[in-house]
Amino acid sequence: MAEIEKKPVKIVETVLRDAHQSLLATRMSTEQMLPIIEKMDKVGYHSVECWGGATFDASLRFLKEDPWERLRKLRDGFKNTKLQMLFRGQNILGYNHYADDVVEYFVQKSIANGIDIIRIFDCLNDIRNLETAVKATKKEKGHAQIALCYTLGDAYTLDYWREIAKRIEDMGADSLCIKDMAGLLTPYAADELVHALKEGTTLPIDLHTHYTSGVASMTYLKAVEAGCDIIDCAMSPLALGTSQPATEVMVETFRGTPYDTGYDLSLLAEIAEYFRPIREKALESGLLNPKVLGVNIKTLQYQVPGGMLSNLVSQLKEAGKEDKYQEVLEEIPRVRKDFGEPPLVTPSSQIVGTQAVMNVISGERYKLVPKESKKIMMGEFGQTVKPFNAEVQKKIIGDATPITCRPADLIEPELPKFEKECAQWKQQDEDVLSYALFPAVAKEFFQYREAQQTKIDQTAADKDSKAYPV
Ligand code: CO
Repeated sequence: MAEIEKKPVKIVETVLRDAHQSLLATRMSTEQMLPIIEKMDKVGYHSVECWGGATFDASLRFLKEDPWERLRKLRDGFKNTKLQMLFRGQNILGYNHYADDVVEYFVQKSIANGIDIIRIFDCLNDIRNLETAVKATKKEKGHAQIALCYTLGDAYTLDYWREIAKRIEDMGADSLCIKDMAGLLTPYAADELVHALKEGTTLPIDLHTHYTSGVASMTYLKAVEAGCDIIDCAMSPLALGTSQPATEVMVETFRGTPYDTGYDLSLLAEIAEYFRPIREKALESGLLNPKVLGVNIKTLQYQVPGGMLSNLVSQLKEAGKEDKYQEVLEEIPRVRKDFGEPPLVTPSSQIVGTQAVMNVISGERYKLVPKESKKIMMGEFGQTVKPFNAEVQKKIIGDATPITCRPADLIEPELPKFEKECAQWKQQDEDVLSYALFPAVAKEFFQYREAQQTKIDQTAADKDSKAYPV
């Protein structure tokens, strides 16, 4: 019998980043992660995604943890596994464009503290916004993975994906990821998409999706059969719903086929056993809302990410206009069209969503315009794949001239200013980066850290004085 060519599919384990970001409001602490990483390190994962995205902000803001310290601890524990992070291009891990010097320094410090693979994306798929981060990653000898935000719309044809894949390879990326943050990619569309990408590039293809619309594991199956090299999964207790397909399920799906991962199921079961009580507790406390675990078909119907839908509900609740939910849902695609049909992902999802809410509750389209909407229309986030609606643009920015260059070309170096501003709190080089991204939150964290240290010093002093009474 002819030997079938083996092509084991590789798995990125997301339980330490995207899974708890999607299901547990990013509240998993370092302490909850450390006891299990020795076992996770034995699985043979392609990588463990464990840093970046919203984890940085959430560590500082809610958990009062230094995210850099978390990274170093994870690095110490994962002796054989590559560590991966999510990086928002010129936005780094924040919501605005930063100067190149900040982007470069952030990449340098991420790699120095233990990251191997940096997944870099831009919310408009404007690849000019990825250049600095990709170059910096290569310079630090890291693996630069460029992620394209998957979305639907007139502009997003197979030709679009094929072409942009080619450009990404030319940029020097080491791999290409399709980032389907909303779970819009259906199984047969995935088959076509992967074939198109493979025509455009020889780079390894990684597929990242969410279970929100209920199709994700079928999508992975079709994608892998079409030649997709890497899939992103989460251990079952924190899988499904708005998170990823379950690792164990995908591993067993491919068992005995040419795509067999070879991972040990009993080891995976032990790891799942560890995360199960974390899930149970989160369900009890309400941190994990059972609502997000079901199928949300509205994401396919309105092509809106699940997280955006829940933001919408809370924005409307605050304004006492919950009855306008349906109207806002219908306004979102119209605003998206006016804004050049961008993918809906942080921060473009917030901008489009907020504008749609304002259009509906004010009773007149673009009567109320948040400053972020102005920025997008001024070209300050970059170029959209389709042109803006000229009439809407005029209404929003008047006679101002929008920029057409890469937005960061207009930003002066920022590090010296940030260094000065946070000098009094600084205990490590990396503190300036925490401060650059989230000045108020970082300052509060630095003050908390100092107070804790004083407390520890005081306890030690008290102990000493008891040992040596004066
Ligand atoms: Co995701």
